[in-house]
Amino acid sequence: MTQEFPALTNDLLLRAARGEQTERAPVWVMRQAGRYLPEFRKTRETHEFFEICRSPTLATEITMQPIRRYAGLLDAAIIFSDILVVPQAMGMEVIMNPGPHFTDPLNTPADVEKLPREVDVEKELGYVFEALTLTRKTLAGQVPLIGFSGAPWTLMMYMIEGGGSQTRQKSKTWLFKYPEASKQLLERITDICVQYLIGQVNAGAQLLQVFDSNAGDLSPYDFSTFALPYLKRIADEVREGLKARQLPIVPLTLFAKGAPPSLAASAKYDTIGLDWTLDPRDVAKLTDGIIDGRTITLQGNLDPVVLYGGREAIEREVKRMCNAFHDARGGACKAWIANLGHGITPGVNPEDMKFFLECVHKYSAVPSS
Ligand code: CP3
Repeated sequence: MTQEFPALTNDLLLRAARGEQTERAPVWVMRQAGRYLPEFRKTRETHEFFEICRSPTLATEITMQPIRRYAGLLDAAIIFSDILVVPQAMGMEVIMNPGPHFTDPLNTPADVEKLPREVDVEKELGYVFEALTLTRKTLAGQVPLIGFSGAPWTLMMYMIEGGGSQTRQKSKTWLFKYPEASKQLLERITDICVQYLIGQVNAGAQLLQVFDSNAGDLSPYDFSTFALPYLKRIADEVREGLKARQLPIVPLTLFAKGAPPSLAASAKYDTIGLDWTLDPRDVAKLTDGIIDGRTITLQGNLDPVVLYGGREAIEREVKRMCNAFHDARGGACKAWIANLGHGITPGVNPEDMKFFLECVHKYSAVPSS
């Protein structure tokens, strides 16, 4: 069933994701609907985090908050949800207090057997699909809508650690102590991610991003063993599934934070996200042409802390970022989606975020002569 949606009036994000040259860089920000916005904090006073995720009207409202505030400045909306809705769908209880907390994390491979074998993705995550459809209609074609999922390794890490962790000792111990059971768990998570992402496109998502935020905790060998095969499976099977269901083959983005860029690029996503520790010029040299001779789009990568540095620093650092991405593309604004190198943090002044977006508009265009 294909749905009818209003026509898109700003497709800058989709063109850049396909590797095209654009009149300026499209820009959006990870966690753009979040605690730095007073309107978000206001909604959170009366609603729990996962209550918002589960209510299509509230999730739509929150997704729209930055789009309204920064009208004409943001080039994408990202559906308000969380990567941890997948472990919830797999039968695990997760609360936000204030960070994520699993009441009963996985301690040994025997705990995996307690999780239901079959997960009905439509039933367990149908609320995300409803939120996407309602948001897509509400956006009325202003900007494209991004859907997302956590990556198998990052989700496995949360399911075992039971929340955030500095050392990732428990989850990494699994990889070394129970490599086969780890792979089985990763396969199970992958199966759900694939169905979940296809369902999101069916519901209205126009680009999909996979967050492997904890990729950098793994050695290159362990990333190749425990992350990459599943990231590749997701890219391949999502594209196949979309084709089989006659859905649009939307661009795919991989944000594998801290992973070696050439390994991340080998997963065959259209775009790879970069954090601020990487220079796009170096990354372009490593990734250009390695997959079917095409230019892999790069997304990023301003250090989120720059947004605390005041207007002068924001302008200076955005200019520096623009120069780096233009250099990476031989002096053109091409195959680049501007973003921060990770999510925007709660203490940022919303006016400084606005200034950041304005600077990207101003400096990312390359003069034609
Ligand atoms: O980007 C967006 O605006 C869309 C919404 C979104 C959220 N989380 C909302 C959120 C997205 C895409 C995520 C992804 C997510 N969630 C990731 C991957 C991206 C990343 O940041 O690395 C991860 C690791 C999570 C898990 C998670 N959710 C953590 C570790 C935390 C606590 C840390 C923090 O920032 O507070 C959350 C909570 C969360 N997810 C908040 C928001 C707006 C803040 C919680 C609140 O409202 O109280």
